Amino acid sequence: MKRFNEKVSRKNTNCVKWDMADENVLPFSIADSDYPTSEAIAKCLTDRVNHPVYGYTFPDEMYYESIVNWTKRRYGYEIDKDNIIPTNSVVTALYYAINYLKDVTEGIIVQTPVYNPFYSVILDNGKKIVENRLIKKDNYYTINLQELDRLLETNKILLLCNPQNPTGRVFTYDEIHEIVKLAKKHNAYILSDEIHCDIIHDGYKFTSVNRFADLYKNIIVFTSISKSFGLAGLKTSNVIIKDKKLAEGYRAFLQSKYISYGNIFGLVAVKAAYNQSEEWLDKQNKHLTNNYNLLKEYLNKNHPEVGVTKAEGTFLAWLDLSFLRMPCEVMQQELLKFGISINEGKRYSEDCKGYIRFNFACSEDLLMEGLKILSKFIKANAKK
Ligand SMILES: Cc1ncc(COP(=O)(O)O)c(C=O)c1O
Repeated sequence: MKRFNEKVSRKNTNCVKWDMADENVLPFSIADSDYPTSEAIAKCLTDRVNHPVYGYTFPDEMYYESIVNWTKRRYGYEIDKDNIIPTNSVVTALYYAINYLKDVTEGIIVQTPVYNPFYSVILDNGKKIVENRLIKKDNYYTINLQELDRLLETNKILLLCNPQNPTGRVFTYDEIHEIVKLAKKHNAYILSDEIHCDIIHDGYKFTSVNRFADLYKNIIVFTSISKSFGLAGLKTSNVIIKDKKLAEGYRAFLQSKYISYGNIFGLVAVKAAYNQSEEWLDKQNKHLTNNYNLLKEYLNKNHPEVGVTKAEGTFLAWLDLSFLRMPCEVMQQELLKFGISINEGKRYSEDCKGYIRFNFACSEDLLMEGLKILSKFIKANAKK
């Protein structure tokens, strides 16, 4: 685990997480990781940098092959090149998918709390947000399938996040199967943001909605190397659509909007990630499971009143601090004064005002430093 506990300063690299925070603040906010990516990716990128011309570049056959093989090996379903649409950001691709399907529906269903740009891509397309709140019990979230069934009668797009940001849920095979059956029953589209699908904790298994593409065709999946391999700055993602007609239509639509594939370095990194970095990814996942367990043990022991949501995937901890009875903005500001930055809960749902999202994709030392600061903050405010 040495590589994941390495001390690498990200300061003075125009790093959003570190350089946009106050100098004395340790950031546990924006969703990227603080340790170096795999040696294979770094080497392939360096080799490409060493050729000093960086002109327009296209994804080659190996690019597509690397995704085809990865998808089969890791997610258990078959695709070919025609099913893959390279893009330059998951959020952009989501925005344009809604735009492409604009005549299908007025309302778009989201299962909340959820990654906040989901709200923006719906509103910016002039559509209505339709909330299907996740059910929370014992710090564990599940889907309200009955309500989903009802909402799908009139709202024909479901924007799914799996693994789920911020709750860390990795929906089971049966849950995903149920969702697909409901979408089929109501002839609705599923847009599934699976950006976190490679980061799964010990004991859990990821199921893509595409596993059920033989059952139902209106499915669009969004993936990326950015979270899994620490490459968010490369702005490179892929859309996977098993239905050839839907894939062709969406591809042509993106072209008409001048949306193109990832940049020259992203195209190199995808191949290095999927072909040469699987071992690195598995080690990272072990490190992240370990970090999550440390965080949970620390908070359970020192602050049992904190609700630690059970994380099955992602590097995001979703913590319920509502017992402090402190408004979200105040909590965020106070935490900054104590020396850490987090993301405030209400970004993900108006219902989650006493929550914080805490990113644990860092070294063990940094995590423990952050937890100690969080602990001081809780002690200082719990008494009030
Ligand atoms: C669920 C989810 N989707 C998309 C993104 C961002 O993807 P991109 O940078 O490719 O637009 C994030 C980043 O945190 C995310 O958590």
